[in-house]
Amino acid sequence: MIKGHPELIIPQHVGIIMDGNGRWAKKRAMPRSVGHRFGAQNFRKITRYISKTGVKVLTLYAFSTENWKRSFAEVNALMGLFKEYLIDLLTNFKEDDIKVVFIGDRSAFDKNLIELIEENEEQAKDRTGMLLNIAMNYGSRDEILMAVKKLCREVRDNGLDPESITVDDISARLYTAGEPDPDLIIRTGGEMRLSNFLLYQSAYSEIYSTDTLWPDFHEKDFDEAIIAFNQRNRRFGGV
Ligand code: IPE
Ligand code: IPE
Ligand code: MG
Repeated sequence: MIKGHPELIIPQHVGIIMDGNGRWAKKRAMPRSVGHRFGAQNFRKITRYISKTGVKVLTLYAFSTENWKRSFAEVNALMGLFKEYLIDLLTNFKEDDIKVVFIGDRSAFDKNLIELIEENEEQAKDRTGMLLNIAMNYGSRDEILMAVKKLCREVRDNGLDPESITVDDISARLYTAGEPDPDLIIRTGGEMRLSNFLLYQSAYSEIYSTDTLWPDFHEKDFDEAIIAFNQRNRRFGGV
């Protein structure tokens, strides 16, 4: 529930493209890494808030398969922050019963980070609160390719009939298998694109883009996104 707005429908699954850390730092004449540090602090705070609103699944885009293109220094700063926060989350999300899961190709990360990812998932596995998907080295095209390869192997090895494959069979082989599709995708930083985020799952997602930069996106900004979502007319191709 959103405070002061008990009438609002709360989306089951919300995705957030946490964009604008670099611009936030630039505005303050600081290095981009400072923007990422403030962005990471905000991530922890807003996640705890969202977990109390009734959202069942939250998917946060933290690092894309394309973000490796950035300078070594920036990627390094991000990896350092991921480690710091994954240690912090072990205790921090426990109290809120948040079930943390990581989506994306973790094999590209260093051993220490992979261990922290596994430790977080292991400690969170029996939690029953909000499911939090943290998308790290995530790219939707890679995810769809992974699903296609799985299906091809099943055709080759298990006698799966290619003609019998359905759209749900594809969904069931994505990282988000078994989860509802996102109802709402929020993008901070003002861009109007998905940047390889949940392409298959977002077929009927409502998109909400705000100019607010990620480190400045607070509880009231989330509430505003939910209010805007409630004003949308979702038709799913019907009338
Ligand atoms: C989003 O902020 C964080 C990541 C992509 C890791 P950016 O770093 O993309 O910030 P801008 O878009 O350059 O302002
Ligand atoms: C999307 O932001 C990725 C994340 C927020 C993790 P980008 O900053 O990488 O997207 P583009 O480059 O503006 O499309
Ligand atoms: Mg960006």
